Amino acid sequence: MLSQLALSIAESATLKLNETAALLRDKGEPVIHLGGGEPKSRAPIDAIIGCTAVLNTGEVRYTPADGIPALKKAVIRYTEQHYDRAVKPENVIVSSGAKQSIMVALYALLDPKDEVILPVPYWVSYPEMVKLAGGVPVPVRAADGSFEPSIADIAQAVGPYTKVIILNSPNNPSGAMYSEDFVRQVVELCEQKDIWLIMDDTYNRLVFDGRQSTNAYAFTGEDVDGSKLVVVNCVSKMYAMTGFRIGWAVGNRDLVKAMTNIQSQQTSGPATPSQWAAVGALNGVQNSIDALRVTLENNRDVMVARLSAIPGVKVVKPAGTFYAFPDFSAYEKSSQKLADFLLEKVRVVVVPGKEFGMEGHLRMSFCGTLKEIKEGIDRIQWALDPNAPNEIFLGSRKLIRDWL
Ligand SMILES: Cc1ncc(COP(=O)(O)O)c(C=O)c1O
Repeated sequence: MLSQLALSIAESATLKLNETAALLRDKGEPVIHLGGGEPKSRAPIDAIIGCTAVLNTGEVRYTPADGIPALKKAVIRYTEQHYDRAVKPENVIVSSGAKQSIMVALYALLDPKDEVILPVPYWVSYPEMVKLAGGVPVPVRAADGSFEPSIADIAQAVGPYTKVIILNSPNNPSGAMYSEDFVRQVVELCEQKDIWLIMDDTYNRLVFDGRQSTNAYAFTGEDVDGSKLVVVNCVSKMYAMTGFRIGWAVGNRDLVKAMTNIQSQQTSGPATPSQWAAVGALNGVQNSIDALRVTLENNRDVMVARLSAIPGVKVVKPAGTFYAFPDFSAYEKSSQKLADFLLEKVRVVVVPGKEFGMEGHLRMSFCGTLKEIKEGIDRIQWALDPNAPNEIFLGSRKLIRDWL
């Protein structure tokens, strides 16, 4: 019999959708995948050179569980450059993806019943990760229904068991970037109430309209070792290196030591070639990030314009990431039902908002091609419009109302 824990953990909805899309494509189905979470560009050449150099030696060994010194050094430089904070190697842990950094932080911080506050909408994995670590996820909705709760909404959720708050800005799934004021107030609240704050900055370089993402360190007078602020990032999204599985956390050295002990028992440390790839990416030419950001910004504009043209659909322009989170509740309140319908009817993959704690919304990625974005949304519009003709050419494909 499986454990209670195993039975309580849901499958990753987004990874499952990737599988569904791949299976349908293999069968020759004309799937448009707007559910994905990774840029389509190639990893930077400096990453490939760094990785292949170590592979070519044929000596690929275990590394320190918290990462090779060269990568920690690159992370320290990154932290100085983007957060204006000088940190030491003892403040840095490199993990197999940002996901593992967050996971080992939660293992290191949570006792049974400890609560973790998650502003809604939250990244799909947070609640399950909190549960895996024995904690209790506490979703907090904005009283005004927006993508950014107020500090009063958050403060109201704080109780004797509150141990951690996780903020992800810019945010997956909404693409929203929390205001500086909100982040500052959360930092202050955490300091007053002795709560750990994990800033998941996975998308901090993919911000549009000339804006900069918010640096939570700017709002604390504490140095890193006196602080309960943990900043997480990864090479996954900004360098299009999802498959390398390298992320990191920067924080208090006692916490980092505990995280390292846990990680050393879990995986012994991240894969060696991937770590050298990350060194290459972080130390190499940085223009691939700019190129990706410009492409994504253009894709966003096209997606938002098309979605806004669908009667009844409400969409907030994403400030960053590669996700939009439109409200389709005028058509269907159950986001799962709507996502299933769109997959079945027009073979468009989207992620139901309920996976992120917000019904009525769908998460749509704009990290694919413009052609996919345009055709995907045209198909959705056609599927939802009862007055649309029964047969229609969308892009190069003829759709018939009962084509499935
Ligand atoms: C908000 C957020 N945090 C963390 C991750 C995981 O990053 P990694 O692939 O480096 O584990 C993702 C990936 O989708 C994400 O969206």
